[in-house]
Amino acid sequence: PNSAIPVITIDGPTASGKGTVAQKVAQHLGFHYLDSGALYRLTALSALRRNTPLDDEHALAKVAEHLHCHFDGMHIFLSNEDVSDAIRAEVVGNTASQIATLMPVRQALYGLQLGFRKAPGLVADGRDMGTVIFPHAALKVFLTASVDARAQRRYKQLIDKGFSANMKDLSMDLKMRDERDTHRSSAPLKAADGAHHLDTSEMTAEQAVQQVLSWYAAVKTN
Ligand code: DC
Repeated sequence: PNSAIPVITIDGPTASGKGTVAQKVAQHLGFHYLDSGALYRLTALSALRRNTPLDDEHALAKVAEHLHCHFDGMHIFLSNEDVSDAIRAEVVGNTASQIATLMPVRQALYGLQLGFRKAPGLVADGRDMGTVIFPHAALKVFLTASVDARAQRRYKQLIDKGFSANMKDLSMDLKMRDERDTHRSSAPLKAADGAHHLDTSEMTAEQAVQQVLSWYAAVKTN
């Protein structure tokens, strides 16, 4: 029924800038926005708070299935508490990456993600938006950037949010996270068939946004 609603998927590694680019593209087009990583982060935060064992995939899938979350503009709520900053903490990101390897957790979040596809359109960012969740997207983008560029961006993000950070730890952390996100057996990070590749190491967010918009304009007129 909603298969006529256009979707743009933007997948890529952690701190590649896909969140910023996806949000701005959505704004330009007046589309809805799905931050799928936030769903894994919300599940992780919820599990950490409940002391759910991180090796109990069925308990974790239950946590994912019963997430009481909602999105309001840039703010993300878990049971009416604003957790927009809390879910960006490194420990939550690492836990998210860990539990995202578990198929029951991914399945529990599947329907929730499809529900974000609403008129007039959706921009979805994550790891498997183009490969698994929206394989028929109108436009698929695979966004990358060098480890250095990404560590620098993550550093700035954390400092701006009032967290402490150090570049060496961040680079190591990014590499570890890439390794896990890329080599897991369930929905690994990889470019979807037909994806447009965009390396943003030397680009501003605005340049990346313009590139995605021009690709989208081209597929729309085809
Ligand atoms: O994009 P992010 O850093 O907020 O995502 C946090 C973790 O969630 C990431 O390390 C892997 C996982 N994730 C996923 O497995 N699939 C997605 N579509 C999005 C995120």
